[in-house]
Amino acid sequence: MKTLIIYESTHHGSTEKIAKAITDVLGAKLVKPEELDMNTMAEYDLLGFGSGIYMERHHKDLLNTVSKLSRQENKKAFIFSTSGAGERNIARNHKAMRKRLLEKGFTVAGEFSCRGFTDFGPLKLFRGVNKGRPNEGDLSKAKEFAKRLKNA
Ligand SMILES: Cc1cc2nc3c(=O)[nH]c(=O)nc-3n(C[C@H](O)[C@H](O)[C@H](O)COP(=O)(O)O)c2cc1C
Repeated sequence: MKTLIIYESTHHGSTEKIAKAITDVLGAKLVKPEELDMNTMAEYDLLGFGSGIYMERHHKDLLNTVSKLSRQENKKAFIFSTSGAGERNIARNHKAMRKRLLEKGFTVAGEFSCRGFTDFGPLKLFRGVNKGRPNEGDLSKAKEFAKRLKNA
C-alpha cells in the first residue's frame, strides 16, 4: 500500500517522532505541507495527516492542505496527533481534521493520539507537563496502530 504522510510538528518535535515511527512501519513517504507536490497525490493509496494539537485542532497549515485537495474517490486516510491531553481528547481534537477529510470524500481508516511534552503559556511556570512524552511506550503503540492500518 503506497502511503504518504503529511505532518507538522512545531512545538517540541513530538509529533515528528510519532510520524517517523508510523513511516517506518508503513514504508511511507513523509513530507511537510510546504513540501507536498499536489500532482503526485493520485499515486498514493493511503494518506496520513498528523500534527500537534494547537487550540484544540491540528496545525493550520495541515488543515489548509486538506482544504486545497481535490475531491477524492475511494481514498483512505488516517489522522494522528500529539497533545497535552493525548488520547483522552482525541474525539474533540481531531474533529476539524476529520470533518475536512470526510468532506473531501476520504474514508478515515484510523486515528491515533498520545501525549506530548508542552510548556505552552502558564505551563512554563511548572517546567511543562508530559515530560519525556512521547516515550518508548507511545512509539510502540504508534507502530501497532500502523500495523493495523496495513490490514485496514
Ligand atoms: C499554541 C499551543 C496550543 C496548544 N493547545 C493545546 C490544546 O488545545 N490541547 C492540548 O491537549 N494540548 C495543546 N497544546 C500542547 C501540544 O498539543 C503538545 O505539546 C504537542 O505534543 C505539540 O506537538 P509538536 O511538538 O509536534 O508540535 C498546545 C501547545 C501550543 C504550543
